[in-house]
Amino acid sequence: MKVTVVCCVLVVLGALPFSSDAQLDPSFYRDTCPKVHSIVREVVRNVSKSDPRMLASLIRLHFHDCFVQGCDASILLNNTATIESEQQAFPNNNSIRGLDVVNQIKTAVENACPGVVSCADILALAAEISSVLGHGPDWKVPLGRRDSLTANRTLANQNLPAPFFNLTQLKDAFAVQGLNTTDLVALSGAHTIGRAQCRFFVDRLYNFSSTGNPDPTLNTTYLQTLSAICPNGGPGTNLTNFDPTTPDTVDSNYYSNLQVNKGLLQSDQELFSTTGADTIAIVNSFSSNQTLFFENFKASMIKMGNIGVLTGSQGEIRQQCNFINGNSAGLATLATKESSDGMVSSI
Ligand code: HEM
Repeated sequence: MKVTVVCCVLVVLGALPFSSDAQLDPSFYRDTCPKVHSIVREVVRNVSKSDPRMLASLIRLHFHDCFVQGCDASILLNNTATIESEQQAFPNNNSIRGLDVVNQIKTAVENACPGVVSCADILALAAEISSVLGHGPDWKVPLGRRDSLTANRTLANQNLPAPFFNLTQLKDAFAVQGLNTTDLVALSGAHTIGRAQCRFFVDRLYNFSSTGNPDPTLNTTYLQTLSAICPNGGPGTNLTNFDPTTPDTVDSNYYSNLQVNKGLLQSDQELFSTTGADTIAIVNSFSSNQTLFFENFKASMIKMGNIGVLTGSQGEIRQQCNFINGNSAGLATLATKESSDGMVSSI
């Protein structure tokens, strides 16, 4: 009797949709929205012509979505009576970009295939397309994610790594998501493109760890360059490129910059400058072999894209990425939402 009960529990548990067993499939929209990839690509390509930074911003948006209750487009939800938006969490506030572009993509996709493609999948596709448009690797994006009915600002503050993290803290933040040290090093390579505001690294220039001195692991020439862009006590919103040489190209320069102490954030330089760290050899290998970096970047992006995904009848396909369905005007929402197959899932 006891054995039967245990067996039943195990069978039931085995059937539960745990995130790591997520069943995503690159051909998920083959019949329902065959052109989704090219529709997303056209919008991203057009926007990036006048705003090349957008490629970086879209890759980051997918990352910030996935690290907070999974890749479920929770980052896109605006504040309402029942939603405390993640957009105002410290790592996102006045920092994330591209929400309007995602809406533009969603409109284009809805015109072709109404009610079919999730906002979470749009974020995953936009990230891959941004890599390709930045001359980086391509990969077949596993699809079939559904959109959340909730957001979690507290979790966003908790889960998103900070630029002043040391290597142990970085590894821990990735381990929580099921990502290992190689994933950490490969995904940090996304900092080969895009910009950062002075406020995220200015302490390294003038008062590192309250020493009154610059970060000793910062290249002195680079320190001078950065100090000119970020004067002491100046506006923390000034911008600088992550990669001083090829700022909008996805390449292995991120790693060669680390080798000469030109990592922009403390969290970047930690990967190479932490004494005895196992990340040093990985940085060296990606620096000397861009193909190896690309292969690892692809694999880690796919792995990240699988975190905590909603599939099947979970969540919903949002009509508008910034609001759960039935709440598009930002009105107070219902406590439960009926999904398309009649199952009721609580919010
Ligand atoms: C390892 C821990 C990480 C930390 C501490 C971190 C932190 C940051 C910070 C502080 C910025 C600058 C934001 C601003 O100035 O407004 C930034 C930008 C960026 N991050 Fe990260 N990040 C990390 C990992 C990642 C990962 C895993 C990805 C993607 C796979 C990523 C992609 C980007 C991109 C592309 C930008 C530039 C965005 C733009 O120009 O709009 N980062 N990151």
